Amino acid sequence: MKLWGGRFKENENKLMEDFNSSLSFDKVMYEEDIKGSFAHCEMLYKCGIISEEDYKAITQGLQSIYDDIQSGKLLIEGDYEDIHSFVELNLTQRVGEAGKRLHTARSRNDQVAVDTRLYARKKAYEIIESIDKLINTLKEKGNENEYIMPGYTHLQRAQVVTFRYHLLAYVNMLLRDRRRIENTMEIMNESPLGCGALAGTTYDIDRVFTAEKLGFKKQVDNFLDGVSDRDYLVELLSDFSIIMMHLSRLSEELILWSSKEFNFVTMSDEYSTGSSIMPQKKNPDAVELIRGKTGRVYGSLMALLTVLKGIPLAYNKDMQEDKENFFDAVNTVLSCLKIMNEVIKTLTVNHDKMEKAVSEGFLNATEVADYLVCKGMAFRDAHKVVGEIVIFCEDNGKDILSLSMEEFNKFSGLFDKGIYEYIEYKNILKKGIKKEIVL
Ligand code: ARG
Repeated sequence: MKLWGGRFKENENKLMEDFNSSLSFDKVMYEEDIKGSFAHCEMLYKCGIISEEDYKAITQGLQSIYDDIQSGKLLIEGDYEDIHSFVELNLTQRVGEAGKRLHTARSRNDQVAVDTRLYARKKAYEIIESIDKLINTLKEKGNENEYIMPGYTHLQRAQVVTFRYHLLAYVNMLLRDRRRIENTMEIMNESPLGCGALAGTTYDIDRVFTAEKLGFKKQVDNFLDGVSDRDYLVELLSDFSIIMMHLSRLSEELILWSSKEFNFVTMSDEYSTGSSIMPQKKNPDAVELIRGKTGRVYGSLMALLTVLKGIPLAYNKDMQEDKENFFDAVNTVLSCLKIMNEVIKTLTVNHDKMEKAVSEGFLNATEVADYLVCKGMAFRDAHKVVGEIVIFCEDNGKDILSLSMEEFNKFSGLFDKGIYEYIEYKNILKKGIKKEIVL
């Protein structure tokens, strides 16, 4: 069933009909489509373009379609071209002639543009909510586990930090992710409804009214741009890609930390899986999947950028390809944020293993150098002295804290008893701006 056909002599081929249809995926926007139609219909009535009778019939019809979809009485299926055709043709079936007047001064081009913006905005808020949940969980897990652990550079033990501080790094990434989405929503906060097919309409419609009704700050400035703009989807996909990149880095750390080699954390059985052949295996599939799905979201971003790059103004059917990519990316990010939240919530932190790793890694070497600097040595010289101390410790199977005063003094006469207190791991975090790590 179609909204067009008058100028055709022959029927559309079934193969083409299936190829062209977007109903199987754009049906998720039914709520937005009906919402947009409510606003458009009210505006048409207010501007004297349709009668009160038609206005009432259309709004009642739209409401009944919405209610029936919600209750499961009306299934979104059949040989409709898209969700817009589905709603309009169902409306006409229900309310007759009045239904045919709804599309006055509107095109599916501005209709799909407004529906997609409304849908993207709704999903962006859901993602912000999931980000907030994960932020809280990371903070809670961190507060419960204020234990020292090795901080790494080049995946080599470097300096002491705390597990809480490490998780807080991800909190900061997620706070930026949240701001990026808010920023995108600020830019996309303009209504394209009323742009018509590409060049507005000869009716004196009220775009300010529909923009306000639908919760937009203003109407778009340019009709051609309004129906062709999908920048906000590209931006959101880019925001999602950055979220996934962050989740993927955290996943990678959890995979490393849960290996026997690190053993810093134990993932809950609830979010781990086993091997069909190796009975001893417990695999971190949850976070491996997050790491893997990151590629999929990047793919959606690349796909949409590529779809858009060559199309002339204004609407072209290529743009229908924005949806599956965007919907898939939204669902992927939402499920990954949710799973990561559970993985962190149920994580056990093996603090004894982390503390042991701290004590075995010469993680106080920089502070030994700082100590010598406090006693008057130049930092570059101190660096060299401590390097020699590390070689000595490695050769003799010792850590720096276990050296005797005599041994220290072989390397520099500037060492005194104060060195032991100075380079004790927990004390290191009480000095200078390192205090921020434990605040
Ligand atoms: N399903 C279409 C899309 O997603 C709706 C707009 C159709 N417009 C048109 N001129 N054929 O882009």
